[in-house]
Amino acid sequence: MYYDPDRNDHGLPHDPFKSCVVPRPIGWISTISPAGVHNLAPYSQFQNLTFDPPYVMFAANQNTRGIRKDTVVNVEQTGEFVHNIATYDLREAVNRSAAEVPPEVDEFELAGVTKAPSIRVKPCRVAESPIQFECRYHGTLRLPGNEPMGTVDVIIGRVVLVHIKDEVIAPNGRIDILRIRPLARLGYYDYTSVESIFQMVIPSGNDALLAGLEGKHKK
Ligand SMILES: Cc1cc2nc3c(=O)[nH]c(=O)nc-3n(C[C@H](O)[C@H](O)[C@H](O)COP(=O)(O)O)c2cc1C
Repeated sequence: MYYDPDRNDHGLPHDPFKSCVVPRPIGWISTISPAGVHNLAPYSQFQNLTFDPPYVMFAANQNTRGIRKDTVVNVEQTGEFVHNIATYDLREAVNRSAAEVPPEVDEFELAGVTKAPSIRVKPCRVAESPIQFECRYHGTLRLPGNEPMGTVDVIIGRVVLVHIKDEVIAPNGRIDILRIRPLARLGYYDYTSVESIFQMVIPSGNDALLAGLEGKHKK
């Protein structure tokens, strides 16, 4: 089958689109408002964009009332955000932090997670999350969409500091992904987490190509 997303003529009981781009990592984004209110929300339209230097992006649709989400407003007003890795163990807190609540609500408290101060930016890190990126705002790409939620702000930030808990670094010096069990979004109300790993190396790849795959810096 095929369908036209403008007409949504797939004939299925549920829109299949979000199940076609899976699994999506979850950017669990913390910000602080100019008035000092701590905000936290999950964004599965999230990715790293490049590694040298590292940049990440998340795409925030407008809220159910057709206005920009608190995360977007805070990032644009303060120029900073933190990404906290979402894990299977933290899944309920991630879910709680997605509630659409007024900007005066401290969403660390709502989610029941602990604030850890950041070093280079004002927004706090989620202490329970094993990996966090402190980020400085680079820019917004606003894509037009259908009312009320379709218009989306793609927020890009440069990662200026990376925190990794010692206990998730394995004896071989690699990040222990199976211990972290990163959480990821599928379609509908479905989620997955990383529970197996396999390896492949590009055949006859030269050193530079393989360094890019591994994410190695020149320095
Ligand atoms: C796992 C998960 C992933 C989500 N991903 C997105 C997303 O990529 N973009 C988006 O606009 N909303 C997403 N949401 C909904 C937002 O988290 C929700 O609208 C939240 O209230 C936004 O909070 P804020 O206004 O404090 O930024 C997601 C929700 C969940 C539970």
